[in-house]
Amino acid sequence: MCGIIGILGTRPAAPLLVDALRRLEYRGYDSAGVATIHDGRLDRRRAVGKLDALAAVLDANPIDGASGIGHTRWATHGAPTEANAHPHAAARVAVVHNGIIENFRELRAELESRGHRFATQTDTETIVHLTADFLDKGLAPKDAAFAAIDRLRGAFALCFLFDGEPDLMVAARRGSPLAIGYGEGEMFVGSDALALAPLTARISYLEEGDRAVLTREGVTIWNEDGVIANRPVKRVDVSAALVEKGEHKHFMAKEIYEQPTVSGYTLGHHLSADRQRVENEAEEIDFNEIDRIVMVACGTAYYACAVAKWWFEKFARIPVEIDVASEFRYREPPLSDRDAALFVSQSGETADTLAALRFAAQHVRHVIGVVNVPESSIARESGVVLPILAGPEIGVASTKAFTCQLLTLASLAILAGRKRGVIDAAEEARLVGHLCEAPRLISAALAAAPAMEKAAREIARARDVLYLGRGAMFPMALEGALKLKEISYIHAEGYAAGEMKHGPIALVDPAVPVVVMAPRDALFEKTVSNMQEVMARGGKVVLIADAAGVAEGGDGIAASVEMPECDPLIAPVVYAVPAQLLAYYAAAELGKDVDQPRNLAKSVTVE
Ligand code: F6R
Repeated sequence: MCGIIGILGTRPAAPLLVDALRRLEYRGYDSAGVATIHDGRLDRRRAVGKLDALAAVLDANPIDGASGIGHTRWATHGAPTEANAHPHAAARVAVVHNGIIENFRELRAELESRGHRFATQTDTETIVHLTADFLDKGLAPKDAAFAAIDRLRGAFALCFLFDGEPDLMVAARRGSPLAIGYGEGEMFVGSDALALAPLTARISYLEEGDRAVLTREGVTIWNEDGVIANRPVKRVDVSAALVEKGEHKHFMAKEIYEQPTVSGYTLGHHLSADRQRVENEAEEIDFNEIDRIVMVACGTAYYACAVAKWWFEKFARIPVEIDVASEFRYREPPLSDRDAALFVSQSGETADTLAALRFAAQHVRHVIGVVNVPESSIARESGVVLPILAGPEIGVASTKAFTCQLLTLASLAILAGRKRGVIDAAEEARLVGHLCEAPRLISAALAAAPAMEKAAREIARARDVLYLGRGAMFPMALEGALKLKEISYIHAEGYAAGEMKHGPIALVDPAVPVVVMAPRDALFEKTVSNMQEVMARGGKVVLIADAAGVAEGGDGIAASVEMPECDPLIAPVVYAVPAQLLAYYAAAELGKDVDQPRNLAKSVTVE
């Protein structure tokens, strides 16, 4: 949430800052702003809304200077107004901030009592006044910033720029990620490697509690104990091209259509070269020493866990508990050293998931992280890291990360099954064979795009939509409903098909479309009965099934969309695709902002 960028450069900073903010816009888009130092003085421009608004402000009223900081905001404290937009500035300092300062009220009261006048409702403005206060007391800029940071409670990634100091930037990280970029006579700070991609590929990541002082010559980093620290500089090859839309109108469409390719990368990593077995980082885990797996995540990643529960219980006969991280972390459930805890996160920075991980790490035998961003906090704090290799996901609604999470979790379930002696080598090879079909089956599912587009035109007219599924299709119904509501703003709910008659069926009438996800598997007939119950009450059903399912269940339904035939193991991966397409086309039909839906942000680094 919120993206930050800092540049000590040799070229005009403003265009570079705006360009970097475009790559960070997925983190928040309530407002944006930049500050630079020109002729020794701080100057800033800010605008409410998307980056284009800031770009227009800069066109009309440009700012010069080769040193600058920039910010794209997801509002926490204070409405998305220009006054509340970052950078925040007081007399001699400007600051951009990602995170939440928990003690800002008491700090603000203290500063106001000493005569500081606040212009915003934000927590961040406290940091600039605190720093200005220390500058007024005669502290040098670096010391004033450090003294201010000492007073902060909460989570932050910060970047400071000082009046009269064009060759100085201070950065700090606690709870929110921050990377340092190394150029030729230039230095950079950014929320992630994507922000820095075209500026430099040489990057180091600040650790929790680190503070950094940058000049154009380089950086000095202190750890949380105030000791100078060496953070390794790595080459991070995030091609800027990966964050372009290419031929697609939206990132979401591009990412949906990338799934045949990226699923191949995921499988390539987690399966042996001969495609007979699973071979990944989890080999070191003795699953016989584990009595239970606890899986924790948020949103779409949580639904991936809900699908995986099926696989782990079936293939490894190991009990699995799943929970959303925001509940788990405060429930403080009993855990033991015969538990493994598994955390799934695309960004690897989700605040609740990270806090849940830190709690679990004190109790369980193994902490497993399933992440897309390899240098993320969750990756760095997990004992065993399973990368999903989906590549940068920019669309706020998760698509390719979800299918790659599913494939990674399915691989792990198979490995656990082999290690626990539940499945033998032949069964492992059979299951792995089905996983290997993912790229082809996803391509085949994508062929249903025209049918989904047609169905979406109807769905777009509805006020409420229900999604039904059984077994592993139940979490897929939940995921389908989440996708639809987050990008089209149509109210949607997912239900276990068998639960309908326990209440939700009262909602059914001809104005409420019901999307039924039902491959022709062992539960198909049960789902079809539930579907008939819906149709008997005037419900209009969109059936997503394979050819056999459409043939058997198709009578009287409003629309059917055919999926390729597949093994039940891989069905959730395949059926994710029509759910994504339905939401995508419904949102596009309604003219919604598909990639940047209102009120949301990609990386939820506040709780
Ligand atoms: C929905 C979506 C969110 C995320 C959730 C967790 O499309 O993207 O529900 O899945 O915010 O984010 P990560 O996976 O980054 O922890």
